[in-house]
Amino acid sequence: MKKFMKGLMATTMVFAMMTSLVGCGGGSEAEAPADTTDKLVMATNAAFPPYEYYEGEEIVGIDAEIAAAIAEKLGMEFEIEDMEFDAIIPAVTSGKASFGMAGMTVTEERMQSVDFSTSYAKGVQVVIVKEGSDITSVDDLFAEGASNIVGVQTGTTGDLYSTWDLEDAGLATVERFNKGGDAVLALTQDKVDCVVIDNEPAKEFVAANEGLVILDTEYAIEDYAICFAKDSELTAQVNGALEELIADGTVQAIIDKYISAE
Ligand code: ARG
Repeated sequence: MKKFMKGLMATTMVFAMMTSLVGCGGGSEAEAPADTTDKLVMATNAAFPPYEYYEGEEIVGIDAEIAAAIAEKLGMEFEIEDMEFDAIIPAVTSGKASFGMAGMTVTEERMQSVDFSTSYAKGVQVVIVKEGSDITSVDDLFAEGASNIVGVQTGTTGDLYSTWDLEDAGLATVERFNKGGDAVLALTQDKVDCVVIDNEPAKEFVAANEGLVILDTEYAIEDYAICFAKDSELTAQVNGALEELIADGTVQAIIDKYISAE
């Protein structure tokens, strides 16, 4: 796959050189797009199954497949850049990536720095605890005198909500991890009392670790969307393709492939 991409890029470069040579001959190259605009670079954090995760060397998942379908529809090359979650918005605003797609929740704060596409999925912040934990509902986290250690992935809405609602209110200490899976590992080792994280990754982490449960009560319900640099020319194009893929059922088919209905 990587080799194929490299080959394709080399071909594109040779082609670009040829066209620019032709251009030198006096033809009008004005409307020829710069070749970087033909490549969509998706910034993500590929430690978030089933949305983005590694299968061997390859990044797969709901977001990876939807983005690939968008690129195909637009006839553009496609590449995924894996990074820390809190590096995604800076990568997008600095133009290093064309867009960010990472099970990313639309929030007011993020809308100050990026534009969002139409939402393509719902997310729920849930709480994972050890079986038999004293924490039996979200309300317990808010109880007077509560003093839990809450594990989260840095910069996620799980981090933001538990910081604002719990830590700032003196009800908890928030421990931040680079990966959601690391927060869950800390839970299995009793280093944190619970983990606040999105429900689908939560299910995967709980299935992969003995002795963990997801509380029945939801912490927050959210919309996932693709983020773009503000006023990016790509937004309308990518969002248009996404909306067509939602309308024709492709997005739902991809989601169903990764998430089995309960
Ligand atoms: N939905 C949450 C947020 O937007 C968590 C997303 C984490 N995604 C990831 N690929 N690690 O903050």
